[in-house]
Amino acid sequence: MSFYTLITGASTGIGKRLAEEFAGMGDNLVLVARSKEKLEALAGELRRACGVEIHVCRQDISEPGAAAAVFSFCEERGLSIDKLVNCAGFSIAGNFERMDEQALAQMAMVNMVAVASLTRRFLPAMLARRRGAVVNIASLAGFQGVPGMACYSASKAYVVNLTEALAIELQGTGVRVFAVCPGFIDNDNFYNRAGHDRSRIVTPVSSPEVVVKAVRKGLAGKGMLILPTFFDRLMVFSQRFVARKIVVLLAAIFAGAREKRC
Ligand SMILES: NC(=O)c1ccc[n+]([C@@H]2O[C@H](COP(=O)([O-])OP(=O)(O)OC[C@H]3O[C@@H](n4cnc5c(N)ncnc54)[C@H](OP(=O)(O)O)[C@@H]3O)[C@@H](O)[C@H]2O)c1
Repeated sequence: MSFYTLITGASTGIGKRLAEEFAGMGDNLVLVARSKEKLEALAGELRRACGVEIHVCRQDISEPGAAAAVFSFCEERGLSIDKLVNCAGFSIAGNFERMDEQALAQMAMVNMVAVASLTRRFLPAMLARRRGAVVNIASLAGFQGVPGMACYSASKAYVVNLTEALAIELQGTGVRVFAVCPGFIDNDNFYNRAGHDRSRIVTPVSSPEVVVKAVRKGLAGKGMLILPTFFDRLMVFSQRFVARKIVVLLAAIFAGAREKRC
């Protein structure tokens, strides 16, 4: 039986880079996002370069029933998923009261609901086979509230907590769940969609390669929350010694996503 790695958010940025990496490792892929043309172009390139099988599933995962639709797509084609990579996600920057309510609801669906729903759909078969992995792309933003990115940081805290709980629930089952929690990554798509002026970020901005390396580390069995860089680890470790309010104030300065109120 051949297995597939399903990657959400594979059309651009980190998800695209992960698709290249998994294809390079010889994995067959199911690529999920809304931009069908980008997914088809990537699939064509990777089939030629790596000789793997790739299916493209165009799906807006903010829609109710999206996880069921992605699951049916795989069932109808007889695709067994042994790695699920929940990478799709986006941020909204700015002051909370000015955020568009519909966009916030969409973000909650993509960053939280889809992660849990897809995991719930694909987990039973992994458990039955006693093999598989769920890889969640969370964020350093999930370790404290980030003023100017209030709902985004809350959504990533959800992913961090979901992952921690599941990792322990699944101990001894042969199925691994872990989250990669990067700080800011060099990817203009992400900042443009968020409306986040990246010139105001005062922390290091890393290459997507650090995420790829962290995913490899997780697949090798190391850790349930993986902080890719030394800076990321320092940020989370130092929280233990600093008052919570200071942690959040520093997060606001580092992210530079908050607008001045008159
Ligand atoms: N960039 C950073 O600084 C950073 C830092 C930490 C964590 N992260 C996390 O890393 C992940 C990937 O981000 P990125 O930097 O690669 O951003 P990106 O380039 O904007 O990629 C986001 C991906 O999510 C997909 N997506 C967004 N909304 C969707 C929807 N409604 N339905 C289906 N797919 C949807 C997009 O595809 P379509 O638009 O084609 O649908 C795209 O493939 C996210 O979870 C993000 O929170 C990013």
